[in-house]
Amino acid sequence: METSAITVGIIGGTGDLGAGLARRLARAGFKVIIGSRNENGAQGAAEALKNLGETSGWGALQVSGANNPEAAIAADLVFVTVPFSAHGATLDSIHEAVQGKVVVDVTVPLVPPKVARVQLPEGGSAGQLAQAALGDNVRVVSAMQNVAAAHLNSDDMIDCDVLVTGNNKEARQQVIDILQVIEVRGFHAGMINNAAAAEALTSILININKQYKTHAGIRITGV
Ligand SMILES: NC(=O)c1ccc[n+]([C@@H]2O[C@H](COP(=O)([O-])OP(=O)(O)OC[C@H]3O[C@@H](n4cnc5c(N)ncnc54)[C@H](OP(=O)(O)O)[C@@H]3O)[C@@H](O)[C@H]2O)c1
Repeated sequence: METSAITVGIIGGTGDLGAGLARRLARAGFKVIIGSRNENGAQGAAEALKNLGETSGWGALQVSGANNPEAAIAADLVFVTVPFSAHGATLDSIHEAVQGKVVVDVTVPLVPPKVARVQLPEGGSAGQLAQAALGDNVRVVSAMQNVAAAHLNSDDMIDCDVLVTGNNKEARQQVIDILQVIEVRGFHAGMINNAAAAEALTSILININKQYKTHAGIRITGV
Protein backbone atom coordinates (compact mmCIF):
# COMPACT_ATOMS: atom_id res chain seq x y z
CA MET A 1 0.00 0.00 0.00
CA GLU A 2 1.32 3.45 -0.93
CA THR A 3 0.65 4.91 2.51
CA SER A 4 1.96 8.39 1.69
CA ALA A 5 -0.81 8.70 -0.92
CA ILE A 6 -3.56 8.23 1.67
CA THR A 7 -4.72 11.02 3.96
CA VAL A 8 -6.40 9.85 7.14
CA GLY A 9 -8.47 12.24 9.24
CA ILE A 10 -8.87 11.43 12.91
CA ILE A 11 -11.87 13.19 14.41
CA GLY A 12 -11.22 13.69 18.12
CA GLY A 13 -7.62 12.73 17.45
CA THR A 14 -6.43 14.66 20.50
CA GLY A 15 -7.79 11.91 22.77
CA ASP A 16 -6.28 8.63 23.90
CA LEU A 17 -7.50 6.31 21.15
CA GLY A 18 -7.18 8.87 18.37
CA ALA A 19 -3.67 9.86 19.40
CA GLY A 20 -2.62 6.24 19.42
CA LEU A 21 -4.02 5.71 15.95
CA ALA A 22 -2.38 8.90 14.71
CA ARG A 23 0.96 7.76 16.08
CA ARG A 24 0.78 4.31 14.46
CA LEU A 25 -0.59 5.54 11.13
CA ALA A 26 1.84 8.44 10.81
CA ARG A 27 4.77 6.18 11.66
CA ALA A 28 3.60 3.85 8.87
CA GLY A 29 3.78 6.76 6.42
CA PHE A 30 0.13 7.80 6.11
CA LYS A 31 -0.64 11.50 5.94
CA VAL A 32 -2.54 12.14 9.15
CA ILE A 33 -4.75 15.08 10.02
CA ILE A 34 -5.60 15.27 13.70
CA GLY A 35 -9.05 16.73 14.20
CA SER A 36 -10.41 18.54 17.23
CA ARG A 37 -13.17 20.95 18.15
CA ASN A 38 -10.31 23.32 18.75
CA GLU A 39 -7.94 24.00 15.84
CA ASN A 40 -5.10 25.11 18.12
CA GLY A 41 -5.44 21.96 20.17
CA ALA A 42 -5.26 19.87 17.02
CA GLN A 43 -2.18 21.69 15.79
CA GLY A 44 -0.53 21.29 19.19
CA ALA A 45 -1.19 17.55 19.13
CA ALA A 46 0.20 17.34 15.58
CA GLU A 47 3.38 19.20 16.62
CA ALA A 48 3.83 16.91 19.61
CA LEU A 49 3.54 13.85 17.37
CA LYS A 50 5.99 15.27 14.85
CA ASN A 51 8.45 15.95 17.68
CA LEU A 52 8.02 12.41 18.95
CA GLY A 53 8.76 11.14 15.44
CA GLU A 54 11.97 13.16 15.29
CA THR A 55 13.24 12.23 18.77
CA SER A 56 12.33 8.58 18.21
CA GLY A 57 14.14 8.40 14.88
CA TRP A 58 10.99 7.64 12.87
CA GLY A 59 11.76 10.39 10.37
CA ALA A 60 9.60 13.33 9.34
CA LEU A 61 5.98 12.36 10.02
CA GLN A 62 3.30 13.83 7.74
CA VAL A 63 0.98 15.14 10.45
CA SER A 64 -1.12 18.27 10.68
CA GLY A 65 -4.02 19.53 12.81
CA ALA A 66 -7.37 21.08 11.92
CA ASN A 67 -10.83 21.48 13.29
CA ASN A 68 -12.94 18.35 12.89
CA PRO A 69 -14.92 19.33 9.76
CA GLU A 70 -11.76 20.54 7.97
CA ALA A 71 -9.94 17.35 8.89
CA ALA A 72 -12.85 15.35 7.47
CA ILE A 73 -12.94 17.39 4.25
CA ALA A 74 -9.22 16.95 3.58
CA ALA A 75 -9.15 13.23 4.40
CA ASP A 76 -9.60 10.26 2.07
CA LEU A 77 -10.74 8.15 5.00
CA VAL A 78 -11.96 9.32 8.39
CA PHE A 79 -11.73 7.75 11.85
CA VAL A 80 -14.21 8.97 14.48
CA THR A 81 -12.64 8.69 17.94
CA VAL A 82 -14.85 10.55 20.41
CA PRO A 83 -16.75 9.44 23.53
CA PHE A 84 -20.27 8.11 22.93
CA SER A 85 -21.71 11.17 24.68
CA ALA A 86 -20.23 13.27 21.84
CA HIS A 87 -20.95 10.80 19.05
CA GLY A 88 -24.16 12.26 17.58
CA ALA A 89 -23.04 15.88 17.65
CA THR A 90 -19.65 15.00 16.19
CA LEU A 91 -21.22 13.04 13.33
CA ASP A 92 -23.50 16.00 12.63
CA SER A 93 -20.46 18.29 12.45
CA ILE A 94 -18.78 16.17 9.73
CA HIS A 95 -21.91 14.96 7.92
CA GLU A 96 -21.36 16.94 4.74
CA ALA A 97 -17.59 16.51 4.75
CA VAL A 98 -17.68 12.70 4.73
CA GLN A 99 -20.26 12.10 2.02
CA GLY A 100 -18.92 9.46 -0.39
CA LYS A 101 -16.13 8.42 2.02
CA VAL A 102 -15.33 5.55 4.35
CA VAL A 103 -15.83 6.48 8.01
CA VAL A 104 -14.34 4.19 10.63
CA ASP A 105 -16.25 4.41 13.90
CA VAL A 106 -14.33 3.20 16.96
CA THR A 107 -17.00 4.32 19.43
CA VAL A 108 -18.01 2.15 22.34
CA PRO A 109 -21.40 3.24 23.71
CA LEU A 110 -20.30 3.19 27.33
CA VAL A 111 -22.62 4.77 29.88
CA PRO A 112 -20.50 6.10 32.76
CA PRO A 113 -20.15 5.32 35.57
CA LYS A 114 -21.20 1.73 34.86
CA VAL A 115 -18.78 1.16 31.98
CA ALA A 116 -18.18 -2.47 32.93
CA ARG A 117 -21.82 -3.26 32.14
CA VAL A 118 -23.05 -3.81 28.59
CA GLN A 119 -25.54 -1.02 27.83
CA LEU A 120 -26.12 -0.84 24.10
CA PRO A 121 -28.13 2.14 22.84
CA GLU A 122 -31.52 2.21 21.21
CA GLY A 123 -30.66 1.76 17.57
CA GLY A 124 -28.56 -1.31 18.35
CA SER A 125 -25.01 0.01 18.45
CA ALA A 126 -22.90 3.09 17.91
CA GLY A 127 -21.94 1.70 14.51
CA GLN A 128 -25.56 1.44 13.39
CA LEU A 129 -26.28 4.91 14.76
CA ALA A 130 -23.34 6.26 12.75
CA GLN A 131 -24.52 4.61 9.54
CA ALA A 132 -28.04 5.97 10.08
CA ALA A 133 -26.77 9.46 10.93
CA LEU A 134 -24.36 9.76 7.99
CA GLY A 135 -26.61 8.13 5.39
CA ASP A 136 -26.21 5.50 2.70
CA ASN A 137 -23.68 7.56 0.75
CA VAL A 138 -21.16 7.00 3.56
CA ARG A 139 -19.60 3.56 4.06
CA VAL A 140 -19.41 3.23 7.82
CA VAL A 141 -17.00 0.61 9.13
CA SER A 142 -16.87 -0.19 12.83
CA ALA A 143 -13.54 -1.33 14.30
CA MET A 144 -10.99 -1.00 17.13
CA GLN A 145 -13.44 -1.23 20.05
CA ASN A 146 -11.41 -4.01 21.65
CA VAL A 147 -7.93 -2.45 21.40
CA ALA A 148 -6.81 -0.42 24.41
CA ALA A 149 -5.39 2.99 23.61
CA ALA A 150 -2.44 2.12 25.85
CA HIS A 151 -1.32 -0.46 23.28
CA LEU A 152 -1.61 1.97 20.37
CA ASN A 153 0.36 4.57 22.32
CA SER A 154 3.23 2.18 23.03
CA ASP A 155 5.98 0.93 20.75
CA ASP A 156 5.14 -2.69 21.49
CA MET A 157 3.55 -5.10 19.07
CA ILE A 158 -0.24 -5.01 19.43
CA ASP A 159 -1.14 -8.43 20.74
CA CYS A 160 -4.83 -8.52 19.86
CA ASP A 161 -7.23 -8.75 16.92
CA VAL A 162 -9.92 -6.42 15.61
CA LEU A 163 -13.48 -7.23 14.55
CA VAL A 164 -14.36 -5.18 11.48
CA THR A 165 -18.03 -4.74 10.63
CA GLY A 166 -19.85 -2.68 8.02
CA ASN A 167 -22.32 -3.08 5.20
CA ASN A 168 -19.77 -2.59 2.41
CA LYS A 169 -17.25 -5.41 2.04
CA GLU A 170 -14.72 -3.36 0.04
CA ALA A 171 -14.73 -0.68 2.73
CA ARG A 172 -14.17 -3.33 5.41
CA GLN A 173 -11.29 -4.72 3.36
CA GLN A 174 -9.78 -1.24 2.98
CA VAL A 175 -9.80 -0.85 6.76
CA ILE A 176 -8.36 -4.34 7.27
CA ASP A 177 -5.56 -3.48 4.82
CA ILE A 178 -4.78 -0.25 6.67
CA LEU A 179 -4.75 -2.09 10.00
CA GLN A 180 -2.39 -4.65 8.52
CA VAL A 181 0.09 -1.89 7.72
CA ILE A 182 0.18 -0.99 11.44
CA GLU A 183 0.53 -4.69 12.26
CA VAL A 184 -2.97 -5.21 13.60
CA ARG A 185 -4.99 -8.19 12.39
CA GLY A 186 -8.51 -7.21 11.39
CA PHE A 187 -11.25 -9.70 10.51
CA HIS A 188 -14.39 -9.36 8.43
CA ALA A 189 -17.10 -9.73 11.07
CA GLY A 190 -20.22 -9.02 9.07
CA MET A 191 -22.69 -6.22 8.57
CA ILE A 192 -22.84 -3.09 10.71
CA ASN A 193 -25.52 -4.69 12.94
CA ASN A 194 -22.73 -6.92 14.25
CA ALA A 195 -20.89 -3.89 15.61
CA ALA A 196 -23.05 -4.44 18.68
CA ALA A 197 -21.04 -7.56 19.52
CA ALA A 198 -17.66 -5.81 19.39
CA GLU A 199 -19.02 -2.83 21.32
CA ALA A 200 -20.51 -5.09 24.00
CA LEU A 201 -17.25 -7.03 24.31
CA THR A 202 -15.50 -3.89 25.52
CA SER A 203 -17.42 -3.95 28.79
CA ILE A 204 -16.37 -7.60 29.21
CA LEU A 205 -12.75 -6.56 28.65
CA ILE A 206 -13.12 -3.72 31.17
CA ASN A 207 -14.17 -6.33 33.75
CA ILE A 208 -11.15 -8.46 32.87
CA ASN A 209 -8.88 -5.42 33.04
CA LYS A 210 -10.09 -4.62 36.55
CA GLN A 211 -9.73 -8.20 37.76
CA TYR A 212 -6.33 -8.90 36.21
CA LYS A 213 -4.84 -5.38 36.17
CA THR A 214 -4.15 -5.41 32.42
CA HIS A 215 -5.29 -4.07 29.04
CA ALA A 216 -6.94 -7.19 27.66
CA GLY A 217 -7.81 -7.77 24.02
CA ILE A 218 -9.28 -10.54 21.90
CA ARG A 219 -7.74 -13.14 19.58
CA ILE A 220 -9.46 -14.97 16.74
CA THR A 221 -8.21 -18.54 16.43
CA GLY A 222 -8.51 -21.13 13.72
CA VAL A 223 -8.12 -18.79 10.77
N1 LIG B 1 -9.44 4.69 25.27
C1 LIG B 1 -9.47 3.42 24.87
O1 LIG B 1 -8.68 2.58 25.32
C2 LIG B 1 -10.48 3.00 23.84
C3 LIG B 1 -10.39 1.71 23.29
C4 LIG B 1 -11.30 1.32 22.31
C5 LIG B 1 -12.29 2.21 21.90
N2 LIG B 1 -12.36 3.45 22.47
C6 LIG B 1 -13.40 4.36 22.04
O2 LIG B 1 -12.76 5.40 21.35
C7 LIG B 1 -13.47 6.62 21.55
C8 LIG B 1 -12.49 7.66 22.07
O3 LIG B 1 -11.98 7.21 23.29
P1 LIG B 1 -10.90 8.07 24.05
O4 LIG B 1 -10.52 7.31 25.26
O5 LIG B 1 -9.83 8.49 23.10
O6 LIG B 1 -11.76 9.34 24.45
P2 LIG B 1 -11.30 10.75 25.05
O7 LIG B 1 -9.81 10.79 25.14
O8 LIG B 1 -12.07 10.96 26.30
O9 LIG B 1 -11.87 11.79 23.99
C9 LIG B 1 -11.41 11.82 22.67
C10 LIG B 1 -11.62 13.20 22.11
O10 LIG B 1 -13.00 13.43 21.91
C11 LIG B 1 -13.23 14.84 21.97
N3 LIG B 1 -14.39 15.11 22.83
C12 LIG B 1 -14.49 14.89 24.15
N4 LIG B 1 -15.69 15.31 24.60
C13 LIG B 1 -16.34 15.81 23.55
C14 LIG B 1 -17.61 16.42 23.37
N5 LIG B 1 -18.46 16.56 24.39
N6 LIG B 1 -17.96 16.82 22.12
C15 LIG B 1 -17.11 16.68 21.07
N7 LIG B 1 -15.87 16.12 21.20
C16 LIG B 1 -15.50 15.69 22.42
C17 LIG B 1 -12.00 15.49 22.56
O11 LIG B 1 -11.32 16.18 21.52
P3 LIG B 1 -11.28 17.81 21.46
O12 LIG B 1 -11.50 18.33 22.84
O13 LIG B 1 -9.90 18.04 20.96
O14 LIG B 1 -12.33 18.16 20.50
C18 LIG B 1 -11.17 14.32 23.03
O15 LIG B 1 -9.79 14.53 22.95
C19 LIG B 1 -14.59 6.33 22.55
O16 LIG B 1 -15.80 6.13 21.88
C20 LIG B 1 -14.13 5.04 23.19
O17 LIG B 1 -15.20 4.24 23.64
C21 LIG B 1 -11.47 3.86 23.42
